[in-house]
Amino acid sequence: MSEKILEEIAGLKQDMRALILAHNYQRSEVQDIADFTGDSLELSRKAAGTDAEVIVFCGVHFMAETAKILSPEKTVLLPDAEAGCPMANMITPEQLEEEKAKHEGVQVVCYVNSSAAVKAGSDVCCTSANAAAVVEATDSRRPVLFVPDQYLGHYVMRKTGREMILWPGYCPTHMKVTVKDIERQKARFPEAKVLVHPECRPDVIDAADEALSTGGILRYARAYKGKTLIIGTETGILHRLRKENPGMAFVPVTEKALCPNMKRITVEKVLSSLREMTPKIEIPEQIRIRALAAVQRMLAL
Ligand code: 13P
Ligand code: SF4
Repeated sequence: MSEKILEEIAGLKQDMRALILAHNYQRSEVQDIADFTGDSLELSRKAAGTDAEVIVFCGVHFMAETAKILSPEKTVLLPDAEAGCPMANMITPEQLEEEKAKHEGVQVVCYVNSSAAVKAGSDVCCTSANAAAVVEATDSRRPVLFVPDQYLGHYVMRKTGREMILWPGYCPTHMKVTVKDIERQKARFPEAKVLVHPECRPDVIDAADEALSTGGILRYARAYKGKTLIIGTETGILHRLRKENPGMAFVPVTEKALCPNMKRITVEKVLSSLREMTPKIEIPEQIRIRALAAVQRMLAL
């Protein structure tokens, strides 16, 4: 990375009172210029708590939108406006309303990987780090509709023993992690534990030792006494795992688990975003207020 670009970013950050947030799946060089790198829950807490005037969100659209929901007075920039999450686009607010109408007294638990408009139609949000706790806090006498990730929903159902109606969304990147891949890596590293993300299919979760959010995987690695971990999630997380745990080996379940949308953000785009103060995230106020209620119910837990 050229020193000149890094210097210009540092200067603009100071002039604009900007904070750079990066998700754990971002390119290594983007993670390295960020002020804070984390999972969805950690990033939303950071966005809510900062006194910076500008947030440059290196992640995908729903994450930057969540920052804007929480901090409407701040300028929230997503350095590539096309960096979306295909899973978040698997349910529209209209489809959500149709589904709600089918189940009397339903409560909607919405994975943060969703649009602001879908959050606005939901009772409470969750991330992969707190999904089970959020579901456990719902009214057990009323049905729960979980959107949009059927696999995270399925994982939570098994963990909590609560029946839920599952929307059939999924993450195309985590679909690339298979049991065969786990078996292949286990044969190479029999002593290693296998950690996967709960967006993986149920058979993959069964074949792993733990299913954890990206933040959970990083915490597990810090406390791990062994030498090798096999990681079944987007490969961007390997950068931080290796940086934070220099004596250990981290092996991806598969190199194919790559999220092309996460990789759209580059250091050059961060620079032009800061220079031009664009692309900005905007949310109609009546949607933002309702989405905020669902996000705040999650953060209050
Ligand atoms: P985490 O909240 O675990 O970081 O996951 C976000 C995500 O998009 C996983 O695909
Ligand atoms: Fe969306 Fe999957 Fe990419 Fe996460 S990894 S942002 S869920 S497509």
